[in-house]
Parts: sequence; C-alpha cells; structure tokens
Amino acid sequence: MLKTDKIMVTGHTGMVGSAFVSLLKRKGYTKVITSSSKFLDLRNQSAAEEFIKINKPDTIFHFAARVGGIKANAEYPAVFLYDNLAIQTNVIHSAFKCGINNLLFLAGSCVYPRESVQPMKEEYLLNGPLEPTNEAYALAKIAGIKMCQFYRRQYGVNFISLISTNAYGIGDNFNLESSHVVPALIAKFYRALAQNKPEVKIWGTGKPVREFIYVDDLAYACFYVMKNKQLFKKYDYLNVGTGKGVSIKELSEIIKKNIGYGGNILYDISRPDGFPVKILDIKRILELGWKPKITLKSGLEKTCRWFMGEGIKRTEGNNIIKKR
Ligand SMILES: NC(=O)c1ccc[n+]([C@@H]2O[C@H](COP(=O)([O-])OP(=O)(O)OC[C@H]3O[C@@H](n4cnc5c(N)ncnc54)[C@H](OP(=O)(O)O)[C@@H]3O)[C@@H](O)[C@H]2O)c1
Repeated sequence: MLKTDKIMVTGHTGMVGSAFVSLLKRKGYTKVITSSSKFLDLRNQSAAEEFIKINKPDTIFHFAARVGGIKANAEYPAVFLYDNLAIQTNVIHSAFKCGINNLLFLAGSCVYPRESVQPMKEEYLLNGPLEPTNEAYALAKIAGIKMCQFYRRQYGVNFISLISTNAYGIGDNFNLESSHVVPALIAKFYRALAQNKPEVKIWGTGKPVREFIYVDDLAYACFYVMKNKQLFKKYDYLNVGTGKGVSIKELSEIIKKNIGYGGNILYDISRPDGFPVKILDIKRILELGWKPKITLKSGLEKTCRWFMGEGIKRTEGNNIIKKR
C-alpha cells in the first residue's frame, strides 16, 4: 500500500472509520476516498457499484455497518440482518466487479459461538450456536467473512477479514439506548454525577470478564494487515484484540474514577450476566508483528476526557435506529 495509492474508507464518520482516516492522514496518505451515508447509501447496489467504478480505489477498507448494543440488536434484528448483508454484499461484490484487488472487512467477536472455549481461536468459527441477542448482526458478519474468503479462493483477490474484540474510544456512540458496554458505563456515571444521584445500577453481578481494544490500536491493526499483505497471505481472517480480560466490576471502577463520580455502584443480580468470559486468542496476529499499544487504563482516560467535552455535545439527539 503506497502513499500515492487511492484508499477508499467506508464508514468514515463512525468510531473506527474516523480513527482510521486520521491514521492514514498522519501516515501521509493523501488520496483518501470517503462518502457519508447521506450521499451514498451502501444498501443501494447500483449506487455502491457506480461509486467504486468511478473512483477506482487501489484498496478498500470496509467499516460501514449497522452497529448497536444489545438493546438495539434485540429489538431490530431484521434491520441489522438486512442492512449489514446489503451494505457488505454491495461493497465486496462491486469491488470484485470493478477489479479492486485489496479489501479489508471488519467483523466483531460475536461471530463466534456463544459457548466457545476461551480464548476464542479463529478455527472456532461456525462451531456452535450464536448468542441469540445479536444473532442477526453476527450472521451478517459471518456471511461477510465467508464472502471475502470465497472470493479470495475462487478469484484470487486479496480480500481479508479481521475479527475484532469490543472496541471503544473517541467518537463512540454514547446513547444509552444503543451503545456498547464501555460508552454506556461512561454515560451512566456521567449522568449520575450531573444529576447528583447517590448510586448507579449495573446489570448482573459485575463478574463477567470481557476484552476491549482502544480504537486507535484497532485502526492500526487494519492498516498493518494491508500494508504487510504478503505476511497475511495464508490467512483468510484473523482475530484482533488485546488478549486480556477485565471484569465488568473492575471496568466500572476505572470509569467511575475517570468521570469523578463519588456515589455507589449497585449490581442488579436479577439481570443476566451472559457468558462468564469472552476473550479472543490473538496469537496469530501477534506472531505477524502487530501488537496493541494502548492500555485499558490510558484508553479509558482519553475516552472519558473526550466524552466530558466534545462527546456530550454529540450525544444530544442521537437516535437508536437512525432513519435512512
Ligand atoms: N465498535 C465495536 O466495538 C466494533 C467491534 C468489532 C467490529 N466492529 C466493526 O467496525 C465497523 C465500524 O464500527 P463503528 O463502531 O465505528 O460503528 P459506527 O460508529 O456506528 O459507524 C458506522 C458507520 O457505518 C456507516 N453506515 C451505516 N449504514 C450505512 C449505509 N447504509 N450506507 C453507508 N454508510 C453506512 C455510518 O455512516 P453515517 O454516519 O454516514 O450514517 C458510519 O460511518 C463495523 O463494521 C463494525 O461491525 C466494531
């Protein structure tokens, strides 16, 4: 991937896409092609193909997706399945039709079976039933991984997928109705602080262990994989994460401290915990030379600081399911 290459980034307004575009700019890439969903709805097949045909990028980083937390996923499974299947199918197939040889597709760790052995290795994909609350999203993402794998196998193109653990950071979605766990906790503690509430209630026992990657580390992993594509030739998809878990209780305490909230945390044990541990096995990507640089402590510090300034303004008026 040369600095003079044309690089197309879908989903550049989102958390991962915006971190990725900033990284490309820092690295001196000047021909970065983007378009927001207002001007290019990637669910529209002919529009997606036309855009790729006209711009003819050398490489596509495909991040655009319908993304949401447990609540949105559980309430709108049809939207999550249709939007994601349509967006990724249009981008991947149009890339192939237009002769684009390099494409990176990003999926999440929910593609692994609900009761996977831990840590989750790449070969556990399709080994068992999925977590029902985000089944639709996971099914679409599995189809995307397989589509890249099959296009690679049948047509010899360099289409590769990364399966990332939960990402967090600047530009995340902090709407309590649709957010993932880290931004939801940040927003909850901030709201309790602002409203002077004596306690914050958290679902479950706080014991489940989860893994989180700071968005800049994920962005760099995407860049690294494409930049060193010869190293990754033998893999169709790879895990990316930190390989380290943290309990929801520890995570909550760190966020509480960063927000400056002095009240109590109540664990609502009437709510389900979910699977006790979920961590990715990242041996393969580590062996190929990438490693995460940002600790959870410093990533959370940055994110909380950003949220208490710019983030709060952005959260206003955020809807669960944006009308498109
Ligand atoms: N966040 C995580 O924890 C995580 C973990 C693993 C993998 N991933 C993957 O990383 C990618 C980015 O996630 P994110 O957290 O950055 O999501 P995000 O902040 O919600 O951003 C989603 C992006 O997709 C675009 N998009 C959605 N529907 C579109 C459509 N119909 N046409 C064109 N663009 C559309 C949005 O554009 P507009 O703003 O213009 O609507 C936005 O730029 C996704 O593929 C996700 O599956 C995320």
